[in-house]
Amino acid sequence: MKKILLLTGVLLCCLGFAKAQDLKSPNGKLVMKFTLLQDGSPSYSLTYKGKPVIKPSKMGFDLKTKPRDEASGGSDANMEQKNVNLQGSLHSNFTLVSNQTTNYDETWAPVWGEVKTIRNHYNELAVTLNQQQTNRQMVIRFRLFDDGLGFRYEFPTQKNLTYFVIKEERTQFAMAGDHTAYWIAGDYDTQEYDYTTSKLSEIRGIMAKAVTANISQTPFSPTGVQTSLMMKSKDGLYINLHEAALINYPVMHLNLDDKNMVFESWLTPDAVGDKGYMQAPCTTPWRTVLVSDDARDILASKMTYNLNEPNKIKDAASWIKPTKYVGVWWEMITGKSTWSYTNDYPTIQLGITDYTKAKPHGKHGANNANVKRYIDFAAKHGFDGVLVEGWNQGWEDWFGNSKDYVFDFVTPYPDFNVQEIRDYAKSKGVKMIMHHETSSSVRNYERHLDKAYQFMKDNGYDAVKSGYVGDILPRGENHYSQWIVNHYQYALEKAAEYKIMVNAHEAVRPTGIARTYPNLIGNESARGTEYQSFGGSKPNHVTVLPFTRLIGGPMDYTPGIFEMDLSKLNPDNGSHVNSTLANQLALYLTLYSPLQMAADLPENYERFMDAFQFIKDVAVDWDDSKYLEAEPGEYVTVARKAKGTGQWFLGSVGGDNARTSNIKLDFLDKGKTYIATIYADAKDAHYKTNSQAYTIKKVVVTNKSKLSQFVAPGGGYAISFELATKDKTKGLPKL
Ligand code: NOJ
Ligand code: CA
Repeated sequence: MKKILLLTGVLLCCLGFAKAQDLKSPNGKLVMKFTLLQDGSPSYSLTYKGKPVIKPSKMGFDLKTKPRDEASGGSDANMEQKNVNLQGSLHSNFTLVSNQTTNYDETWAPVWGEVKTIRNHYNELAVTLNQQQTNRQMVIRFRLFDDGLGFRYEFPTQKNLTYFVIKEERTQFAMAGDHTAYWIAGDYDTQEYDYTTSKLSEIRGIMAKAVTANISQTPFSPTGVQTSLMMKSKDGLYINLHEAALINYPVMHLNLDDKNMVFESWLTPDAVGDKGYMQAPCTTPWRTVLVSDDARDILASKMTYNLNEPNKIKDAASWIKPTKYVGVWWEMITGKSTWSYTNDYPTIQLGITDYTKAKPHGKHGANNANVKRYIDFAAKHGFDGVLVEGWNQGWEDWFGNSKDYVFDFVTPYPDFNVQEIRDYAKSKGVKMIMHHETSSSVRNYERHLDKAYQFMKDNGYDAVKSGYVGDILPRGENHYSQWIVNHYQYALEKAAEYKIMVNAHEAVRPTGIARTYPNLIGNESARGTEYQSFGGSKPNHVTVLPFTRLIGGPMDYTPGIFEMDLSKLNPDNGSHVNSTLANQLALYLTLYSPLQMAADLPENYERFMDAFQFIKDVAVDWDDSKYLEAEPGEYVTVARKAKGTGQWFLGSVGGDNARTSNIKLDFLDKGKTYIATIYADAKDAHYKTNSQAYTIKKVVVTNKSKLSQFVAPGGGYAISFELATKDKTKGLPKL
């Protein structure tokens, strides 16, 4: 670890003007320029190899002025008005107090991840600003890496800025052109949208169509979009805007001024419309700009993790385990079975409703026999865990009524015997995965959290999938406001006390905090496989997710669907999974996660055991990852080396059109011979019309081999590489 202080505390305030200050990335390709403008507004810009990435962009805040400021008297009404404005404005009238440049270079090992070690290497500039009339100080800290820029605002302890309320953050990201963007609508409550690819100037015209129905949604502007936002410029730059280390602060969206192509931060408001309650000393999250002229660098970047604090869980590796699991889940999502137990009651009140008197409707998925069937399947095929949803009372009446006391997270339905299942799973060497649907009644969840986690530990559960479907309670709060961001954090840190791993659905999208709290092993927080059962997702969706949602951390996407015609599971479900079977296999590589589900039903896997073998074999934790091909919306190809075993796997997904993937296998170990088992689309495969057409072939390869592989529309291919012994390669063709 190296930290060198280059320039300390240069007092510039007395000069009366401020000079621009340049900061270069370690390899010199990125240059950030900080300037204090004539009116004392802080501003920054960024170039990559001399090309503009962020044009001069202003920074700062509008603060809420306290009622007592407005009420206070004064002889000079104009002067009074000016003071009020100044108190509200924290974006101009600054002078530069000092600046400090440092550099940093360390390597750290994540508890789980795409690679064994991560280099955290940057040059830093911290500028301390003083707003003269109010005597309030603010530090802007910039970190420039070879793959991008992070900066945040810091508020040191001071007399004139103690408690303050943010009306709006005014951070701009001025684009250098009308870029192509891969975007979803800005929304305070959901990210479960399909991505749209369009020019920035087209967002306004498309917005209405892009906002598709969701159980809880609050879009806010015709040009508002979410981060992580991926863009591509005409001159071939890939630019990604997001945030890192979102702690005790609302989610940042971006609102586009589409005349000037300038994004401005747009924070998620709380129930009373305020955007952030701050108490100095404090910091904002990092605002991040990833940039490269090679799309693969965006996927390989670890900058978002690097901007987070190191692991705070000391014995993490002893209980945080990458997990491959199956679950009583897809059958409910597709409507083959249900979370609920009975149709007898129009409403449910826990503690009053007597389920022992209820007539079961016969479609309850989480019954002992069915759960044991999944446990048997998991044990037989080497899966670590089994998730069971709909095991606890309350599902007959769980959302839509702004109901407070929905679930208690400890009381099972009469046909789910917690102890019996616990003992059965243990006897088979399988871990049970708990499900806590909060129905967004967050207060109710916090009320029950300790008991619920203790109940898990008592019954052999080490991981929980939590969920936040519907509008948030306390009423008026949003899924991404500061208060509820703090709730997700509370649930995560409390889980760590119990040594519980968390996979939160509908929660805030990740910003790399899994570096600090590696028990956050998954999040949904985007449009997952469930939407393939709710009408389908765009076939190229999975080629965008790695560039957007996955920038901040892994996704519990729940891949592995083999039966695409969902009417085969439930005659009333007319939806079709817009993917080929080979594409589903590739997702285990291209959508990195230490938590991977084999989401389809055991009976569907049993029909395709040869292809299922890949899901059985594939690892979920890695020593190394090599992005071989990448283009947002078009394709992603990645090879990964399994942690500990050294075995390589490869996955490639395509978009709407057929293509040929041309790759070199030069990532394989030199001088070694491998048998590659290639699971690929058949020539006539198609995500809609022929989605189960696949081929499996075995070929002998080395690190000198080159592969040219057909990918069908909505298709892909997956490869497992096995070190070859002579007897095994006999008769096999060379690639
Ligand atoms: C939505 C989640 O994404 C899904 O996985 C879960 O089954 C349902 N909510 C019910 O909790
Ligand atoms: Ca969901």
